[in-house]
Amino acid sequence: MTTSEKPNLYITLFSLHGLIRGENLELGRDADTGGQTRYVVELAKSLSLEKKVDRVDLFTRKVVDSKIDQIYARDEEQIAENAWIIRTPCGPRRYLRKEVLWPYLDSFSDQTILYFRSKGRIPDVIHGHYADAGYVGAQIARLLGVPFIFTGHSLGRVKMGRLKEKGMSLPVMEARYNISHRIDAEEFALDTASKVIVSTQQEIDEQYELYDNYDKSRKIVIPPGVDTNTFYPPRKRRHRTSILKELKRFLEDINKPMILALSRADERKNIENLIHAYGQNKYLRNTANLVILAGNREDIRNSDPGSKKVWSNIIFLVDKYDLYGKIAYPKKHNQQDVPDLYRLAKQTRGVFLNPALTEPFGLTLLEAGACGLPLIATNDGGPNGIIGDCKNGILIDPLNIEEIGTAIQKILQDGKLWNIYSKNGIVNIKKFYSWKAHTRGYLTEVNKLVKRRYFKRNMMREEKSRMPTIDRMIITDIDNTLVGDKEALQRFLELQQSMDSNVGFGVATGRRLGLTRKALKEWQIPTPDLLIASVGSEIYYGKKLVLDLSWHHHLNYQWKPEKVHQVLDALPGLKLQNKIDQRQYKISYFVDMNKAPSKRKIMSLLRENNLKVKVIHSHEAYLDILPIRASKGLAIRYLVMKWGLTPERVLVAGDSGNDEEMLRGNTLGVVVGNFSPELKHLYGKPRIYFAGKSFADGIIEGIEYYNFLGNIHIPEEPHVE
Ligand code: GLC
Ligand code: MG
Repeated sequence: MTTSEKPNLYITLFSLHGLIRGENLELGRDADTGGQTRYVVELAKSLSLEKKVDRVDLFTRKVVDSKIDQIYARDEEQIAENAWIIRTPCGPRRYLRKEVLWPYLDSFSDQTILYFRSKGRIPDVIHGHYADAGYVGAQIARLLGVPFIFTGHSLGRVKMGRLKEKGMSLPVMEARYNISHRIDAEEFALDTASKVIVSTQQEIDEQYELYDNYDKSRKIVIPPGVDTNTFYPPRKRRHRTSILKELKRFLEDINKPMILALSRADERKNIENLIHAYGQNKYLRNTANLVILAGNREDIRNSDPGSKKVWSNIIFLVDKYDLYGKIAYPKKHNQQDVPDLYRLAKQTRGVFLNPALTEPFGLTLLEAGACGLPLIATNDGGPNGIIGDCKNGILIDPLNIEEIGTAIQKILQDGKLWNIYSKNGIVNIKKFYSWKAHTRGYLTEVNKLVKRRYFKRNMMREEKSRMPTIDRMIITDIDNTLVGDKEALQRFLELQQSMDSNVGFGVATGRRLGLTRKALKEWQIPTPDLLIASVGSEIYYGKKLVLDLSWHHHLNYQWKPEKVHQVLDALPGLKLQNKIDQRQYKISYFVDMNKAPSKRKIMSLLRENNLKVKVIHSHEAYLDILPIRASKGLAIRYLVMKWGLTPERVLVAGDSGNDEEMLRGNTLGVVVGNFSPELKHLYGKPRIYFAGKSFADGIIEGIEYYNFLGNIHIPEEPHVE
């Protein structure tokens, strides 16, 4: 074996929400456990079989909840010889729907960083799935300098457009779906991604096009793979299965051609229009059965509002069209029933229906097709590509009820056509959509990204310094936090003098080094162990102020300062700060809030110009533009990684916008009483204590709140007055 053939790739996948385990996935159990869940598990397993791949870790949320299987509480689960699920706690222990996970994501990244450190290994690539894991994965990738791949699965802006069409107002969308949070996370992931993997060309053309970060060249279409060991045509003449028994309870004549639809109980899956189509078409009513599997249910009255609506509508429509004896909608089915159902439907010479309003992925189509069922599917999304490649069915407009009925009738009536579609599916899906084809395409892209960098090796090296002896650390902002009130500062410094020598002290400031030293001198503050200057873009150690060069080089990624100037310098309300405050990795403006565009607008503008940067607003007066890998927060995380500190033992204090990133996450945050408005939204967030007292007295209050100098105490619930 030559070195290039050695299995050496360490691939990490991140997929946070839903219930993920190695076997027998509970697909359809709830809105968060569906196609994406299965995709990531299959992807992890199949990548791990490749020669070049040494290990695959799939990171997801750890859930300890008596209402669900205990496997979801296990820290690690081996799912193949070289593949693991790694479960990380994040926020409350119980199972949570994805819309409420946002406040806990920074904690997820912090713990993952520790995991990598404990293993002594940094991944070669990070792949984030959906907005939540997109955010987490991107943050870690920025920190570790590892290439990042993003797959949205579905996108917030698309959802927003659809909800708007339905007449839902923005405040309702926010309350129900946290929609702008999701979109911000997606843009953040897109800022970071070297590649965006999608399943279909249409996703690129119509969905990602809605994003500020619309850059076609980074998008790669790799169609999903289907497991043809599970999904294959019927071998025996009569297939006996438990689900058959279930269907018999509903259907008068089980032998009629079966029109089969299978999806989550989600309004967007448009099951309603399928029943209308069936109910309004006499031919179908007389000659075919309709079989609908829309997840599992216990008591419809107690289910979540979305599913409740779907299920009640099914029942109302069955009654309206008087479909008794012709339609089946079993209460329960399990994963093993699914291939059986496809085969059963094939034996009746039936069809598979996916009438979704939009279908980004369409994995069920591949599975049904691989079993030999002709397809009828929405013309919005993935099915275009699948039916285009495989020539095994008909596309329909999901809103046109008559068209749906006519298409089904056409295939059921024309035996020859049915045969062609059935055979084409079996042959072509294997050809175009196998997992093997998928992983091969995937690894080709990964190989283009992976370059071993100096930074990665250097990340966990311990150098001669006081840092390794430090057991806990206080890192504070300077202006308006540590300084501002002379007497409070005096009290803080006295407290600091009395601390054990293993309590480290650091400052993190927007000031450049010179001005930082000036402030320290002026206020008679002893030289800190560690100094983070220029909003996190420079790190210095000890009395000699040794610059951390690895960090410095790390920031260069995607940094195009001239172009930033071109885009921003002339904007109204922005005025460049003094030349000396413009640093290698920091461009700073004074901002007049009444004249300047909003921060959101400025970010859009930069993204539209293909600039990947961080925009930080402080004191309603300053605007800093930094490389995406810089910030006080990331600088601290880098230090945690490099020196093996524990975030739980790092107390950070600040007062304004440029402190935000370091206040979030697993570190112990303290916001001093005199904070500026940009930080207001952190109120009530986990591990962020809003002190009543101002300036350095606020820091002292925070130290007491966490009992930071003794047996550290971290209140479970966020601090809200
Ligand atoms: C400090 C810096 C300035 C920066 C501001 C906000 O005042 O000197 O350049 O814009 O912090 O981070
Ligand atoms: Mg400040």
